[in-house]
Amino acid sequence: MLPQSADLLAWYNRNRRTLPWRALPGVLPDPYHVWLSEIMLQQTTVTATIPYYQRFLARFPTIHALAAAEQDDVMQAWAGLGYYARARNLHACAKAVAALGGDFPAEVTTLQTLPGIGPYTARAIAAIAFAIPVVPIDGNVERVIARLFAITQPLPAAKPAIAAALQTIASQQAAIANPSDFAQSLFDLGASLCGRTPDCAPCPWASACLARAQNIAATLPRKAVKPARPIRHGAAFWLQNHNAEILLRRRPAKGLLGGMMELPGTDWHTTPLSIQAALALAPMPAHASTPWRHAGQITHVFTHFELRLHLFATTAPPASNIPGTWHKISTLAEQALPSLMRKCTHLAQSTAKGLAL
Ligand code: ADE
Repeated sequence: MLPQSADLLAWYNRNRRTLPWRALPGVLPDPYHVWLSEIMLQQTTVTATIPYYQRFLARFPTIHALAAAEQDDVMQAWAGLGYYARARNLHACAKAVAALGGDFPAEVTTLQTLPGIGPYTARAIAAIAFAIPVVPIDGNVERVIARLFAITQPLPAAKPAIAAALQTIASQQAAIANPSDFAQSLFDLGASLCGRTPDCAPCPWASACLARAQNIAATLPRKAVKPARPIRHGAAFWLQNHNAEILLRRRPAKGLLGGMMELPGTDWHTTPLSIQAALALAPMPAHASTPWRHAGQITHVFTHFELRLHLFATTAPPASNIPGTWHKISTLAEQALPSLMRKCTHLAQSTAKGLAL
């Protein structure tokens, strides 16, 4: 028999996770909370998202507060979540919604016209916050449906087949009557029993699951083999003065980590960079009181490449000839520094003593 949405909803009533962006059973959550959580959840796991979400909401409790905020404050609250274009879009979206009077539009196609809201997020907001009968399909939902219908075609080619199979359940009366819980129950099933290693015995859909019947649940969904991530190489420079300040510069507004702060550094090359070659690219501060010292190397994984940065440190007076602005080391936590740069500043600070700066 076809899997029944009513069975999943009954399971959800007993097992729903308590999450800070969720409302009590039977109540629709605030669209601002749903939107914010969905944008954050595209970056990282539920567990990692919770503290960011709570801090962000304490700082910007309403869409109007977020719309009125300085861009740098938004970037700083986002810093660590990565993919900073999302934070800029988040701010632009808040301004757009505030300009509409502060209410998110309750319609998938209109939601999709807002900055940073694609088909997935529009459907998530529509279903969860407005009870519109659509289903947002994320990785959890893909896994559940690929297994339930034993869809063996690899992702991403299997997406249309998964959407079509899901529709046979989403069009049942119980799902249409409660789109908010239906979407969230799929997320929760995918995040718990139907995780990477399936735990089928307690699953409300066990008897309907075709992958379970064929004993292939753990192998689904299949994924097309991705090409290896290329590696890029560069260097960053920690320049410290005698007022316990360091030199930072702002990245160009467009492109990777656009508008974020960073240590001065080299371009990122596709060929490996030796310590000597990196040093040759170092800026020459006037009157540096120590030579550049090698503090170590950090590795950071972006979506499309892995970056390896040599880090060098030295001391120089504030009137140095290198472009940038000086910031107290004690204020680094307040800067809009991306995770990549946090790794650099932590390494520099943990080695500064050893380098006798
Ligand atoms: N994953 C994506 N959206 C989610 C949500 N609203 N709750 C739990 N997990 C999710």
